[in-house]
Amino acid sequence: MKDPVRVVVTGAAGQIGYSILPRISKGDAFGPDQPVILMLLEITPALTALKGVEMELIDCAFPLLHGIVCTDDPMVAFKDADYAFLVGAFPRKAGMVRADLLAKNAGIFKVQGAAIEKVAKKTFKALVVGNPANTNCLILAEHAPSIPRKNFCAMTRLDHNRTIGQLATRAGCTPSDVEGVCVFGNHSASMVPFIEAATIKGKPVREVIGDDEWIAGEFIKTIKTRGGAIIKARGLSSACSAANAAIDCMHDWICGSDGKIVSMAIMSSGKYGVPEGVFYSVPCKCKDGEWEVVELDASKQADALKATADELFDERKTRLSDYIFDPMIAD
Ligand code: NAD
Ligand code: LMR
Repeated sequence: MKDPVRVVVTGAAGQIGYSILPRISKGDAFGPDQPVILMLLEITPALTALKGVEMELIDCAFPLLHGIVCTDDPMVAFKDADYAFLVGAFPRKAGMVRADLLAKNAGIFKVQGAAIEKVAKKTFKALVVGNPANTNCLILAEHAPSIPRKNFCAMTRLDHNRTIGQLATRAGCTPSDVEGVCVFGNHSASMVPFIEAATIKGKPVREVIGDDEWIAGEFIKTIKTRGGAIIKARGLSSACSAANAAIDCMHDWICGSDGKIVSMAIMSSGKYGVPEGVFYSVPCKCKDGEWEVVELDASKQADALKATADELFDERKTRLSDYIFDPMIAD
């Protein structure tokens, strides 16, 4: 039996927390032979609710769950941590865009980044889910400078899975028949769902769907606005699909994507024309706990790829200066 890994989940008493914890405990994120110790972080007023979640997890009797720590102290939660799902943040309500949450949520990621820097393992890996995920991830990484930037990722897997879900529904096939989609850029309305290299049962998506007008119109709009549509319908932001996407992302990152393309918002490095400095979603393949960017021909989408990058640099420039000192934005 492997030694257990310490997995932090922030916002563990929230909606996504409630969906994600049984999945992690069952082995869906780190593999069926990998025991876990859950390090659950909440704000003080939510500790009673968190206690209830802990009781339920114990009652599930998961064989891989080797321990649970509940705390309101980031220094306790991140102590010797191997992995984290950074979920704890305020969700948007109807009428808001995700960037409206930056002022409210950025401080959370500053504090947690500082704790990670001090007490997490140097091999620590983090997936940021709390919105606006890309820029929160940047704040987190900036405050944990001794952890490699490649160990931070913001979640765009939900947008990726939504793209697969819409195509499978339209084509009348199963999601596993759809391969090679990805989503570029920010987890916001400027994201760029990309299907030009994708296939359905091995055939090009455009050929199978046979309706370019639907692809350019309703399909793209549905992906970009899905989060808002769910808030409108449920009165709450997506939770079970968000938790599922976080599990998918972490699983493929750590256990391998099995040759498949997945979308991950990782530190930009000049690829796809995006200079270093923001967490930008690109197509990746993962093996042995590392991602590698896949080079696809997205030259026809160059303007849209630039627009979503510009939005991320704007978020960085206009809001980040309130929270971190960064000479790159001091102009
Ligand atoms: P929620 O309100 O149900 O839960 C959030 C939890 O975070 C609450 O229990 C709250 O007490 C806790 N929290 C707040 N500040 C904290 C702190 N400093 N430390 C630890 N915990 C803290 O919200 P939710 O529906 O679970 O969503 C959580 C976040 O995930 C939101 O920002 C939401 O917008 C985002 N989200 C992102 C995606 C994505 O695709 N990236 C998808 C869905 C939701
Ligand atoms: C989503 O995409 O469902 C989440 O980011 C929640 C939101 O605010 O849209």
